[in-house]
Amino acid sequence: MATQPFDLAGRVALVTGASSGLGRHFALTLARAGAKVAVTARREAPLRDLAVEIAGFDGRALPLALDVTDQAAIEAAIAAAETELGPLDIVVNNAGIAATAPALEVTAADWQRVIATDLSGVFHVAQAAARRMVAEKRGGSIINIASMLGLGGASLLAAYSAAKAGVINLTRTLAVEWARHGIRVNAIAPGYIETDMNRDTLNSPIGEIMRKKIPQRRFGQPADLDGPLLLLASPASAFMTGACLVVDGGQSVVM
Ligand code: NAI
Repeated sequence: MATQPFDLAGRVALVTGASSGLGRHFALTLARAGAKVAVTARREAPLRDLAVEIAGFDGRALPLALDVTDQAAIEAAIAAAETELGPLDIVVNNAGIAATAPALEVTAADWQRVIATDLSGVFHVAQAAARRMVAEKRGGSIINIASMLGLGGASLLAAYSAAKAGVINLTRTLAVEWARHGIRVNAIAPGYIETDMNRDTLNSPIGEIMRKKIPQRRFGQPADLDGPLLLLASPASAFMTGACLVVDGGQSVVM
């Protein structure tokens, strides 16, 4: 193995939902490891700021508008990324949304929106990227961001937990089908990770109750996902495919 097993110099990556939270962090982590990164999201303005930040440490990022529920946009973004940066080696399927409601009250529109983004979006981005990887005969690494909530029942999150469970098994199926092409497909299932979107809740009295259910008695920080991300993105995980790395401070293994 190389002396620096997590080095991504010369690799090309694409991250969905990179405008905020974990996606933004993943893009920075991949760029710091040497990858050229297509940073994609629905809103382009925050992506331009991210690209400037990445250029600040001599990294390379290409901001691209991409709504993962729009199949034509997926094809266009991947084509643009490959034209500007080169053939894709790494895809991080990070874009995701949640809708919170009791199952009896979930609307059809909310159900469709969450499944379209969190499950169908993951499939369509993975499929479009894998088609390119097969055509280029280069293989690649696809990393799907699932959730601890895809491992068991979760109150008020019917569509989200179903979509994330779907992502975990989709990961296994794509791994089986695409191994012959040298494409590895793995998932990361984070527990509660503190980002701008959930910081207020996690630091509220409800958050305190949630924290006590975690064996490590803390919420994760985005940097807690750096090791798993770089492992799955790099040749250090060459013999791993179809895996789901749970990163939750032990929460999902409590009896
Ligand atoms: P976030 O809300 O900050 O980030 C989600 C990103 O996805 C945003 O950039 C948003 O604009 C983007 N997005 C939403 N719909 C999109 C669409 N149709 N097309 C393209 N981009 C779209 O939330 P966070 O926490 O950073 O979540 C990132 C991923 O990690 C999600 O898949 C989430 O389910 C997952 N996750 C997060 C956990 C946490 O505690 N923060 C725990 C477990 C999983």
